[in-house]
Amino acid sequence: MAIKIGEKPAESLLNNPLGLLYSCHRRVEHFFNVMVTVTQAAQGGTLSEGQRHALKSALRYFREAAPLHTLDEEESLFPRMLKFQNPKIKTMLDKLEGLKHGHREAEDNHQKIDQWIQEWLNKGTLSEEKVPRLSEYLNRLSDFYQAHILMEETDVFPLAETLLDQSEIGAIGQEMVIRRGLDPDALKQLTEDLKKPSRPV
Ligand SMILES: [Fe+2]
Ligand SMILES: [Fe+2]
Repeated sequence: MAIKIGEKPAESLLNNPLGLLYSCHRRVEHFFNVMVTVTQAAQGGTLSEGQRHALKSALRYFREAAPLHTLDEEESLFPRMLKFQNPKIKTMLDKLEGLKHGHREAEDNHQKIDQWIQEWLNKGTLSEEKVPRLSEYLNRLSDFYQAHILMEETDVFPLAETLLDQSEIGAIGQEMVIRRGLDPDALKQLTEDLKKPSRPV
């Protein structure tokens, strides 16, 4: 499900929450690649201003935004899928449990990665013994994200699109908005206002 170019994120959340889950994956991949690329290039040495800025943005993304994506899946999407009693969902149940375990594992890995990268930013360099450990954790997490995102986008999200009706999809969008601290009523009003002519006719 594609996000329309020019559509504001808040409107997309209400209109197309599953589409937003896909685009969150693209952001996860982007910020994760930033950490891998800078680590490979600088190897714990002095960082350029650009590299510092890139690492700070990536850390902020994984501290603040990525956990919301996990909650979108675990609290809004998965429980709605599990309400269905059909054979496809029975096999999906194990997969969803596996995905939740994967989320916890990724959080643990991110904690270590965050700690080392923050230390690198604070001290200006990262000690020689920590660089290979940081690379090892990044490699491990890279494999995890590849498999996890593939399963969600190949099996889980398409099944959700066929199972859930518009009211449930809308409810997921509302929960995602609230989770991000935006008032869904205010956003609906904003969306309506945007459709009206902006000047008197
Ligand atoms: Fe996930
Ligand atoms: Fe996901």
